[in-house]
Amino acid sequence: VVRYIAIYHESLVISFVFAFLAFLITLKTIPRLKQPFLNAQLSGIDVLKLNKPVLPETLGLPVAIIYLIAMFLFIPIPFISWFGTNDMVALVHEEAPHLGTFPYHKLGEILSAILAIQSMVLLGFADDVLDVRWRYKVWFPAIAGIPLLIFYYTNFGVTYVVTPIQLRPWLGDIVHLGPLYYVYMVSLIIFCTHSINILAGINGIEAGQSLVIALSIIVNDLLFIYNNPDQASVEVHLFSLYFMLPFAGITAALLYYNWYPAQVFVGDTFCYFAGMTIAVVGILGHFPKTLVLFFIPQMFNFLYSCPQLFRFVECPRHRMPRVRQQDSSILLQCSTLTLDYDRKPTGKVGYAMLAFLNALGLLKVSARDANGRILECNNLTLINLVLAYTGPLAENHLTLAILIIQILCSLLAFYIRYSLVKFVY
Ligand code: UD1
Ligand code: MG
Repeated sequence: VVRYIAIYHESLVISFVFAFLAFLITLKTIPRLKQPFLNAQLSGIDVLKLNKPVLPETLGLPVAIIYLIAMFLFIPIPFISWFGTNDMVALVHEEAPHLGTFPYHKLGEILSAILAIQSMVLLGFADDVLDVRWRYKVWFPAIAGIPLLIFYYTNFGVTYVVTPIQLRPWLGDIVHLGPLYYVYMVSLIIFCTHSINILAGINGIEAGQSLVIALSIIVNDLLFIYNNPDQASVEVHLFSLYFMLPFAGITAALLYYNWYPAQVFVGDTFCYFAGMTIAVVGILGHFPKTLVLFFIPQMFNFLYSCPQLFRFVECPRHRMPRVRQQDSSILLQCSTLTLDYDRKPTGKVGYAMLAFLNALGLLKVSARDANGRILECNNLTLINLVLAYTGPLAENHLTLAILIIQILCSLLAFYIRYSLVKFVY
């Protein structure tokens, strides 16, 4: 068994090497692409700087391409023992005689994952170039995820969830969700992609959060592989590592150039690509619930944003903080939204939602009318909420604050996953 696992660990070492090479190539490539991207007018204004520089945008595209090339070249590696006649073939047959035929399902798994990620990159780029309306682009991840879901249907088809202990007397040990399980997976894909895209707007935040999530998944995989050496769980977590290691590599390089003061923007292409890669790994690695735990800040940001996203109150095109110059330093303060009670869309429901958030201490009200109604409050994003509590911050400190929250939430996720879980499952 040890020698059998050793074969797989060889591919793990190669995956590490691929990740490192992808990191280096990305580091070399991005500076060379700055001018061509500017020439092609793939650019955006860095609005949180005083001189409003124009930066190349959509650098997520070349980064995703480097990732895809790394994954294409990696495809044969886990199957290397099946090629030609060498000692490894003999070893595999000897130690695991049930593996008599080539594991086509494993190959299919990798191919469907890559196809989903690649489709997402294509649709993300379309969004960057064409600025597609929200009502259409919400569904992009679902479309890109179809190859993955079809693979899932034809290979595992597992559509039940294990019931929490407290609910077992009523629901039994497992609940069969049937087609609803596919709705659950599509929702997960849509959530992962868009939630990264809406926790955005300050230098380094999109790539930074993706890197923290990827590293959390990598740590979780390694914990599994070394604590739980039954072959099935080792295999799914190796699969996850093969995808996450190069992803962490390219994301780290992108973060280097996107960190304050940013030289490039990542674009929606990167946000979608990152969300899809992470979702694919969670679904095919059979850990969707753990995955959601690594998205606690994104989950909060999404729920907190709902009144604006679903237009119960006004949602401006950009909700990023506002710059202000204080003495010699340039600081960010929260941006606000103004309520106009005579005009739609601020209806009664929207006002009730804001009052509720205010009661929870999750709103900074900056103006009220004579009747005590809220006239102005912060835009409903995690970034603005942090600023509401801390007061004005420099942009890099704000990014760091959000990333520290992300890291603390990952630690909480590990605590829930490995300690509290025994009270529920
Ligand atoms: C999402 C957010 C929006 C936020 C925007 C910032 C929602 C519903 N949408 O929109 O509120 O303002 O992301 O990315 O929450 N930019 C900077 N500095 C940065 C990153 C981006 O100034 O560090 C600006 C640039 O002008 C860039 C633009 O934001 O061109 C990119 O915005 P885009 O990704 O198109 O916005 P959305 O994802 O639609
Ligand atoms: Mg965006």
